[in-house]
This record gives sequence, C-alpha cells and structure tokens, in this order.
Amino acid sequence: MCGIVGYIGKQNTKEILLDGLKELEYRGYDSAGIALLNQEKIDVYKALGKLNNLREKVDSNTNAYEIGIGHTRWATHGKPTELNAHPHLGEYSYVVHNGIIENYKELKEELIAKGHKFVSQTDTEVIVHLFENYQNELNDTTKAFHNTIERLEGAFSILLISKAAPKKVYFFKHGSPLIVAKGNEENEVLFASSDAPLIGLANDVVYLEDGIGGVASAENGIEFFCDDYSWSTLPSSKQYAQKDGFRFFMEKEIYEQSDVVSDCMLGRIKDNETFFDEIDASIIEGIKEIKICACGTSYHAGLTAAYLFERLSKVKCNVEIASEFRYKEPLLTDDTLFIVISQSGETADTLEALKMAKNAGLKSLVVCNVDNSSMTRVTDYKILTRAGIEKGVASTKAFSTQTVVLWMLALYFAKEKNVIDNEVLQNELHALREVPKSLIVNDKIHEKTKRLSKRYLHGHGFFFIGRDVFFPLALEGALKLKEISYLHAEGYPAGEMKHGPIALADPELFTIALMPQNLLYDKIKSNVEELSARDSTICAVSPLDFELADDFIKTEKTDHYMLEFFEMLVALQLLSMEISIRLGNDVDMPRNLAKSVTVE
Ligand code: F6R
Repeated sequence: MCGIVGYIGKQNTKEILLDGLKELEYRGYDSAGIALLNQEKIDVYKALGKLNNLREKVDSNTNAYEIGIGHTRWATHGKPTELNAHPHLGEYSYVVHNGIIENYKELKEELIAKGHKFVSQTDTEVIVHLFENYQNELNDTTKAFHNTIERLEGAFSILLISKAAPKKVYFFKHGSPLIVAKGNEENEVLFASSDAPLIGLANDVVYLEDGIGGVASAENGIEFFCDDYSWSTLPSSKQYAQKDGFRFFMEKEIYEQSDVVSDCMLGRIKDNETFFDEIDASIIEGIKEIKICACGTSYHAGLTAAYLFERLSKVKCNVEIASEFRYKEPLLTDDTLFIVISQSGETADTLEALKMAKNAGLKSLVVCNVDNSSMTRVTDYKILTRAGIEKGVASTKAFSTQTVVLWMLALYFAKEKNVIDNEVLQNELHALREVPKSLIVNDKIHEKTKRLSKRYLHGHGFFFIGRDVFFPLALEGALKLKEISYLHAEGYPAGEMKHGPIALADPELFTIALMPQNLLYDKIKSNVEELSARDSTICAVSPLDFELADDFIKTEKTDHYMLEFFEMLVALQLLSMEISIRLGNDVDMPRNLAKSVTVE
C-alpha cells in the first residue's frame, strides 16, 4: 500500500527514485510522482496509473539533482487523479506520505481559515500546509517539522523537502513502515518504505520504530531526533523477482511454490518430528488455547490451521479477521497463544491486533514472509515462511508456505504435548515431505484450466464449495477469482448450501466442488448431487470420477487429504489466473488493490 523512496547524493537522483519506485509499484499503482530538489529549485512530475507513465513524462529531463523524494500511490482519500498524486505541495515544500491522517478534516479547516489553499482531496496535503504554517510563524524548519508531527493523528510515514531547507530531507515514521539507509557512496542517504529499493545501494539501515524521525543532509548525514534506534545490515542478495519467461509474476509464483515450500521445510523436519530454530517448547507451556488473527489470504491459512491445531495438537483454536478483532473488545487470557499470519508483516489491522494481544500479556508468534517487517519486530516469536519476494498482488506462494509452516507447527505442538500417536505423526511427516511434489504444476491441469476459462469467464456467479480444510480452500479459490477476474464468487461450506444459497442454483451458476478422496468424500458428493439436481453447472475438482460433473479437473490420487489440498490449491490459482488473462485484466496489478495494506 503506497510506496515511498527518497535520495540524497551525487548519483542520478531521478533514476534512483524511478528504479526504487519500480520495486514498490506492486504496492499501489493508482499514480506515481517524484519531486527533485536542486539549489532551492524543486521540479515535480506526477502521472496517473503505472510507473511507465511517469517515466515517459520525466525522461527528457537530464538536469542533475542532489535530493529527491518519490511515491507510488494506492488511493485512500481522494480519487486516483493527478492532483491527488504525491508529492503534495504547499507554497514551497513537498511531502510524500504513506498511511492515513485521521484528523485531516479538522486540520484542513483550521488551515483554510488561516488562508492556506488546498488543491487536492487527500488527507496528505494537510501535512505540507501544516509544516508551512509553522515555518511561516517560527522560521525554523526543524521546529516546524516537530510541531507538524505533534498535530497529526493516524498512520504516517513521511518524507518532506522544502525550499526553506534546500539541502535537507525531514523524515518520520508512525504506523507505516520506513527505512533510512547510509548509501554505499560517500555522503549518500536513502529512504524507502521496504528493503527492495535499497538492496545494492546501501548496507547499513535503520528500520524506524514508531515515533522515530529526524533530518538528513549530505553535509551532516542522518540526524535522529532521539537515540531510540539501531543499525542493521541489509540482506545483500538482490532477490529481485523477475518474470523468467512467465506471462505474469503470479504465474511464476504459482510455479515456484514447489521450490519455496521445500525451502520453507528445510531443516524443519527431522527423522521423527518437526523442529523450528526460532522457537522452543516454552512457547506452548501453560497454553490452553490458540487464537489466530490475520486478513485475506493469510486469514484463510489461519482457518486451515485451526482444523490442524484441534485435530493434531488437541488444542482449542479460533480464528479471527484482524479488523473485526480490533474493535470487538475481545476477552484475552494469558493462557492463549496469539498467532498472527502475514505475508508482508505490515498489514495495519493485523499489526494492531498483535500489539493488543501483547499489551494484554499474551505470548505472541508471527508467521511471516518478510524479516525485519513491523510484525517480526513486535512479536515474541517469529517463524519465517521463506517464500521469497511475492510480487503478484494476488497471494499464492505466501499461502502455501504459511499453511505448511502452520501444519508443521501443529505437529510440533502435538509432539511437545505428547498427544499424538507415533504412527499418526510419522504418517503426517511422510505427507509433509510429499507436499513439494503436490505443488508441482501438472501440465494437464494447467491446460484444462485454460480450456475451462473460455466458458467460465461468462459465469455470472461462482460458488466454491468444500468441507473441513477444503472450506477455507474454497474461500481462497473464490477470493483469487474475485480479485483478479472481477467476477462474483463465494466460498461456502458444502453442507451449508442447502440452508439458503442453493436457491441460486441454475445453469449459469458455476459450482467449483472440491471433492477430495481422503476426507468426507461421500458427504460432499451428496451436497454436490443436490446442486446438480437443481441444474447448477458443476466443475468437480477430484481424483475420483463423478458422473454428474459437467466439467472436471482431475487431480492425482494420494493417501493424505493435505496433499490433495495443495494440488487443488494450484488448480484453483491457475483457473482464476487463466480467466483473468482471457478477460484481458492485469493479473499482477488488479484494479483497486495493493500489496500490503498498511492502513486500516
Ligand atoms: C489476496 C491477498 C490479501 C492479503 C491480505 C493480508 O490475494 O493477497 O488478501 O492476504 O491483504 O496481507 P498480509 O498477508 O501481507 O498481511
């Protein structure tokens, strides 16, 4: 959700900003903009839509600039228009901002009454006017910046430049991520809202904590307003995701799942148990219940895990959507282990839920793909999913690695609590080792999804149905279809259809039925028969023949339902991707969405 970059130094500022924004573009692509500062002259470029539009606009400018800030936007307040694109201007200063200023309306009214002229509908614009208001009064840019920060409520990571301080960049972090880095060249300073734009340009970085800010310049380097920060070393390997011949990052990431799940399991399955370097048995001591909190696809991994924790670890488990959890005044007791799941580690609702649980004295664990992200810094324990950078906005490999980590964790708890029979444990471990095989894309299935997509793109409604862990998988299949194909889809527990939704059944209603051989096959078969009898078009996803199916995605016969789960997951991901491609949509950057939602 929105990306920020900033640069002070002698290299080509414009190119560094544009390259950095390219790395962050998947976080928001409603518009992009840069402000370039040289000797009290600020040049600004903004463009709607993808970054290439901005590049075209700025290409002919070959001037040298020693300071610049840039932004790629996912609109929160104000439509995606050029006026609403960042950087935002006052009379003589510019700001880029990631987050939401909750009290912007009051501030805006106050500033308008003082004569400030606003041109955009954004919340961000108040920051720059507030700054100039104080600067005009005090004639001291540092004091003006401090006063500004004190007035802001909500989430805000900010970079601000001003003709009143032509050699400086002011920065502050609260709620949304921001990193400050010493560049590899002399007197160079870089800023970014995540690692990727900095890799290769800097080694020493500070992952700012909330409430930390400062001012940077080529002369004085980085000056923090307080001592509450520490330096870290940036990972040196540039894991830049390239498409490697695939049509979209999503496709590449679907095909990568087998490999990344192998990486995810590396060293974590011993001869007869699962094992994590990051935790020890004390994590489960005194724990009577597990509560999982997450959003979107990560929430679906949580729902899946709840079945596994109860079935295998014999521990009560409930799962909540983080945005609901935050405001329901939950009853929290310290015999609960609080697990949050997040690809990015930055999702605002999940992060706040984690902080609430920590404040209530609960032990916390995050299952996360991004080390050094906000959640990994707040939590007591973390387990990294090792999926590598996920660029497609529609999450794929993050989900499969999260699910595998949680399954391994369920077995770890089961062993520690001594509640699992050794034969069952060995059977589970055997299945776990087979997961990478189940995730290898089956060419026949991929071809089949391409063929089905021709007809399915005309569907006016989709029900994905399943039972047990195949219910969260159904939810995930429906979410994938919605977000990249813009077709209406719902995930439903198969047994629940007869309690209402079956009224919708007709030939234009496509039912994607997840019919695993190894779990409740006969039960789901009856549910699908009920739908077929009411003329719904049935696409069965199953290793077993089913005579009532109008269409079939045939999966492999295996001996464990979780292996069927992962094979079906790939089939559903491919089906939604192929429908989206056939509809001509941008699979990697679907409309209205952004990767990593750092506002609530
Ligand atoms: C869907 C998707 C989102 C995310 C959700 C949580 O494909 O990607 O639903 O799963 O925004 O994000 P993280 O996992 O980063 O907390």
